[in-house]
Amino acid sequence: MASSRTPAKFYSPLAIGAPEPYRALPVRLERMIHFIPPHNEKIRAKIKDIAGQVDVVLGNLEDAIPADQKEAARAGFIVMARETDFGTTGLWTRINCLNSPWMLDDVREIVAAAGNKLDVIMLPKVEGPWDIHYLDQLLAQLEAKHAIKKPILIHAILETAEGVNNVEAIAAASPRMHGMSLGPADLAASRGMKTTRVGGGHPDYGVLADGNGAASRPFFQQDLWHYTVGKMVDACLAYGLKPFYGPFGDFSDAAACEAQFRNAFLQGCLGAWSLHPSQIDIAKRVFSPDEKEVAFAKRILDAMPDGTGAVMIDGKMQDDATWKQAKVIVDLARLVAT
Ligand code: GLV
Ligand code: MG
Repeated sequence: MASSRTPAKFYSPLAIGAPEPYRALPVRLERMIHFIPPHNEKIRAKIKDIAGQVDVVLGNLEDAIPADQKEAARAGFIVMARETDFGTTGLWTRINCLNSPWMLDDVREIVAAAGNKLDVIMLPKVEGPWDIHYLDQLLAQLEAKHAIKKPILIHAILETAEGVNNVEAIAAASPRMHGMSLGPADLAASRGMKTTRVGGGHPDYGVLADGNGAASRPFFQQDLWHYTVGKMVDACLAYGLKPFYGPFGDFSDAAACEAQFRNAFLQGCLGAWSLHPSQIDIAKRVFSPDEKEVAFAKRILDAMPDGTGAVMIDGKMQDDATWKQAKVIVDLARLVAT
């Protein structure tokens, strides 16, 4: 008998095996967006080795590149894009922001010289859909002019209070939208938060356990970015985009980096930025599903072949909703295995 079973309509965020239009975005692993400064020749020389180890290489032209090196960074990115075989590794660039003196030349020169190698442009400091519309039209003109074979996608950084306020309109702004990353450093400044950090927590942001008169009470540090990551994930998933956590600046604290990445993974993010080679393996570990979770998720799928009903596994109730959760985890495991 024909039924309107939930699974037939459910495609997990990676949409493996889903028919169009659910598979509008390329299905590929993007667990770490690895940032490199393209004006640095020594780092550029090592890019062939790094390319095999990371899911995405990103040539950064914006913040952290000194003003007098902006043109060298752009030129270095073009050389790297043209001369490197990136294989299955994605190639992205983070261009300068729209109201900077460099943005227009960043886009014009890179698309003209390396548009066919470029997968995604990361646009910083996006405040509303108008920013995406501008880049969208500019890319359409340049793609036509230079006969670029596939559309270059746009990835927005969510890093201003206004951008967070407009997050849904940004997500909906163009079919070119690939996804969004949280930019905690600029967002902290934009919001007037009292920190001097690039992502991660703050020792003073937390709650005290109830006291009941006790002299000392445990203090539980909280995730400063929980609200924004949740808001970004919802906006992205509502429009079929991919959500990412951004940077973690304290390279000496691998445990805190892993904890921040893991919170983002559990909330729905698909990857994070690696600003230092030591963060590549952290991101790979965190954004690939845990083997025990995968084994349990497979048991749920096996126990409910049509994805409906309710069963007990190890004393825990499973139903249509946990079937969908399990499918997300199993789809990701399949992608990691390919
Ligand atoms: C990234 O660009 C940030 O501002 O955190
Ligand atoms: Mg920033």
